[in-house]
Amino acid sequence: MNSPAKAYGKVILLGEHAVVYGHPALAGAIADGVTVESKPGSGRLEVPAWDLSVSANEDKPSLARAYAAIREALGVNETSRDFVVTFHVPTGAGLGSSAAMAVAVARALAPDASNEQIANAAMASETVIHGKPSGLDHTVALLGGFGVFTRANGLSPVRTAQQVTLVIGHTGRERDTKGRVARVGELYAERGDEVRARFEQIVALVQKGVAAVERGAWGELGEAMNENQRHLEALEVSCPEIERMCAMAADAGAVGAKLTGGGGGGCVIALAPGRESAVRDGWQRGGFHSFVTRIG
Ligand code: MEV
Repeated sequence: MNSPAKAYGKVILLGEHAVVYGHPALAGAIADGVTVESKPGSGRLEVPAWDLSVSANEDKPSLARAYAAIREALGVNETSRDFVVTFHVPTGAGLGSSAAMAVAVARALAPDASNEQIANAAMASETVIHGKPSGLDHTVALLGGFGVFTRANGLSPVRTAQQVTLVIGHTGRERDTKGRVARVGELYAERGDEVRARFEQIVALVQKGVAAVERGAWGELGEAMNENQRHLEALEVSCPEIERMCAMAADAGAVGAKLTGGGGGGCVIALAPGRESAVRDGWQRGGFHSFVTRIG
């Protein structure tokens, strides 16, 4: 096998869903993400973790259509190598594994392609999988780092006083990005004024969060996360497990906790300086698996 192509996982600290509507979100890379190795074959994509092997000529599963979209966007018709995907972050968890897979597959298919070409290919794949992506996930998967993302301007780096350490716990329920993005779209159509007002408040929380990470003001960042979670719950993208995990994190001394990514399941992030083990222990007792990671 050749040396693997790599891409990062991601965490959204503040601003998911609003980012789909052009607003800023604060996000950072998880060092571990996805690797893709190639081996002699016939152009298939293998995902051992899902027990799947697909060609770009199939209509199902959606992985096959996503793979076809990547190849088409890159103008690549590879028929002599197969590509094997390995995940180093939980999948279906809101940590950007699908975007990281798309970026790493694109890089493996076309190692000489520009970042812009890889980004276009990953966007095509994400559109198959998520419907209406903002582009945040694949941008962070491609570039890494920590910063503010907008649809219009991409990722602008934010200088952190210290690296942000998060506890990331899994609800045990798969995230539902496509369904939750669609639900926010319905709410936007039905109750536009309320949803727009919430988005404006989320924008203010992103600004507060950026100022807080620049100063290492973890209490303020935590407050912004907690308030963001209240808006996400009102936008119907939370779920009982997420709410329970946020409450447990607060009980264990976290200064902030919220869902991350599409919601409806997936992961909860907790900011708990010096209390990371307590948060993990509490979640563990509730049956929720977790890990600690540094962002960016
Ligand atoms: C998904 O990681 C984050 C959402 O904002 C969707 C998107 O940005 O495409 C929910």
